[in-house]
Parts: sequence; structure tokens; C-alpha cells
Amino acid sequence: IGREIHYFSEVDSTNNMAKKLAEKGAEEGTMVIAETQSRGRGRRGKKWISPEGGIWMSTILRPHIPPADAPKLTLMTGVAVAKTLKKEFGLDVGIKWPNDILIGNKKVCGILTEANAKFNTVDYVVVGIGIDANVDTKIFPSEVVHLATSLKKELEEEIDRVKLVQSLSKIFEETYEEFKSGNFPDILNDWRNLSTTIGSYVEVRKRLGKIVRGEAIGITNTGALILELDDNTLRKVISGECIHIEK
Ligand code: BTN
Repeated sequence: IGREIHYFSEVDSTNNMAKKLAEKGAEEGTMVIAETQSRGRGRRGKKWISPEGGIWMSTILRPHIPPADAPKLTLMTGVAVAKTLKKEFGLDVGIKWPNDILIGNKKVCGILTEANAKFNTVDYVVVGIGIDANVDTKIFPSEVVHLATSLKKELEEEIDRVKLVQSLSKIFEETYEEFKSGNFPDILNDWRNLSTTIGSYVEVRKRLGKIVRGEAIGITNTGALILELDDNTLRKVISGECIHIEK
């Protein structure tokens, strides 16, 4: 991973650029990195603010898996990012379901995986990682300022982004090899140990304004969250915006 890197000072979105390269046959492991994105994308159609100082990167993977297994790669990536931030900076990071990397209870990294399938197997997956590395948190809009942080803010100094990308590429590759050799259960275990969601009482906002509340008691092997509702019934939630709340 990262043997071939396409570097830009600005793109619309590194995920879009990686998709274009993948369509043209780019090899597995090809990476796109940009200093800024003019139309950075978050999950659920949200805009992702991508100023200078951040790490905005996308990697092309070509695993031989059914499309339904693609969410596993999101969990795998979360584990790789969390492990890297722990190793490089000794930070106490956690993962909020499905894929936000938190320091304390503030988000420092988001992951957007986009899969493209041909005949019911994955042709390619673009894994987008956005890390607020040397981002000045003062530029965050007021609605996210209490929800987000940056490595610079937490560590009170600028970090070496090149070194971080190198370290992440290595750990990402190791975790991906583990995935390909069929060790997903071990990765899921790491995910559970890093998770701040399991064991918390949460509210998940789904599409069309639907809300489910309950205690997060586990995760299925495809990454769905298992909630125990107030009436003690179990409910599987495949996607949504998750907020930790007091019962
Ligand atoms: C989220 O938490 O909503 C996911 C955010 C993902 C942001 C990254 S930055 C690099 C890549 N390019 C994009 O347009 N988005 C992802």
C-alpha cells in the first residue's frame, strides 16, 4: 500500500480521484493524497471540510469479496488508524461506531469507504481517510467545534504528516493482509477493544428521521451495531448517525 502515490495540492475529493484511477485500471494499493479538497465528502452526503494541514487520502483496494462484505474494510481501516495514532503519539484513541476515530469524545478522523462491484464481486474499493492533523481548530464551523479536534490541538505541536502517512500505510497494509488471510475475527476483536460505543447508551439517527435508542451491546461480523432496547428486545442497526447519550 502506498507504493504508488498520486499527490495533488488540490482536488475536488481524493475519493473521486481514486475512483477515476481505479476505473482506468490502477493497481491495488495506489494512493491519492491532497493538501486540500474543494469538495471533500463525508458519510451520508455530508460535506467534509478539508483545509491545509490535514491528511486527505484515498487508497484503492481490490479484495475478492462480495459487496456485502465491503463494510468490513471500514472497520478494518478504523482499527488501522487507531493503532497508528496510539503507536506514533501514545494517544488514547477510541472508535465510535461505525468509523469515527475519537480523542476524548472529539472526532479527529473520519473514514469513507466506497465500493464498486461487477457481477456480485467487488471490483475495487476506495478507502478515504481524513485526519485533522495540523488543522487549526479555530477554523471549524460553530456546529462542529464541540465535536471535533485535531492532532495539533491535542498534542500542542505540529506533527510530521509524512511520517504519519508512512506509518499508517504500513499498519494499514499489515491489517489488510490479516483481513485477506481470513483473520477478520481478530480485527473485529481489536475493533471491540477500541470501541467507545459498545457498553454505552446510544441514540442512532437513521434515514427519514427515524431514531432508535438503546444500549450498544455488540457488533455483528459485518459491522452492524446490536442494540438492546428499553423493552429488552434486540435490534440490529446497519447504518446511521450514532450519538452517545445518558439513559
Ligand atoms: C465521515 O466521517 O463522514 C467520513 C469523512 C471522510 C473524509 C475523507 S478525506 C479523504 C477522502 N476524500 C473525501 O472526499 N472524503 C474522504
